[in-house]
Amino acid sequence: MNAIEVENLYHRFADGTVGIDGITLMIRKGDLVVLAGPNGSGKTTLLRHLNGLLLPDRGRVVVAGIPVSNNVAMARQKVGMVFQDADSQIVGETVHDDAAFGPENLCLGKVEINQRVQSALKKVGLLGLSNQRPHLLSGGEKRRLAIAGILTMEPEIVVFDEPFSSLDYPGVRQVLGEILALHHSGRTIILATHDLEKVIAHADRLIIMNRGKVVRDGLPADIVKDVEQFGVRAPCAIRTGGEFQSWMS
Ligand SMILES: Nc1ncnc2c1ncn2[C@@H]1O[C@H](COP(=O)(O)OP(=O)(O)O)[C@@H](O)[C@H]1O
Ligand SMILES: [Mg+2]
Repeated sequence: MNAIEVENLYHRFADGTVGIDGITLMIRKGDLVVLAGPNGSGKTTLLRHLNGLLLPDRGRVVVAGIPVSNNVAMARQKVGMVFQDADSQIVGETVHDDAAFGPENLCLGKVEINQRVQSALKKVGLLGLSNQRPHLLSGGEKRRLAIAGILTMEPEIVVFDEPFSSLDYPGVRQVLGEILALHHSGRTIILATHDLEKVIAHADRLIIMNRGKVVRDGLPADIVKDVEQFGVRAPCAIRTGGEFQSWMS
């Protein structure tokens, strides 16, 4: 069963830049897929097609059997997206209100909203900061708040765009812990990064992008050796000949 099907996708920006140059890709339900590639290779552009933030010039994206272009609202419920810039994702005056934004838009009842928000904030360890102003949170806390906002929507698929950027070591471990918990609860995870070290030990599949195309796709152990030819730093295990190391151990 495929969570996502990307068929013959092309996207060109208004200024003529080609963002996606012909991608076909099936993503199995429940997989943790790492999308790697140098800056500008099209990772973010691809991710933004998965919930209709960008629409294809050619080709299509199908989420849970339904084409995104025909039903963007459905895609946004099925696909939760944690953006690279946590500040841009903040919408509430308090941590609680911020996390409540999604379920309020689903027009759920107040009791249901509060239950979902409290449960999500508890999962990411922010319940004690419910009344805090989001802008005062640390980088790692902001990203965990973004994850809580996604959890309240109960999406089947969660997309992370550079989730470890600008986080310190404890921040990386906390965010990685949240990502793995989501994966273990059965969600499909797609994670874009140019930094493989932190997550490769947990990936079911590695996809390498370059210049808007998929240039490698397979088991991490099989293709991670190729990443450096596309300008992505290989994990230490590749350079030392050891096993992939988990950042959680
Ligand atoms: N809004 C935009 N307008 C024009 N070009 C863009 C826009 N967003 C991204 N691009 C270009 O599209 C290409 C892919 O970018 P992006 O998807 O952000 O790559 P990545 O996430 O892999 O760093 C790059 O050449 C980038 O400069
Ligand atoms: Mg990007």
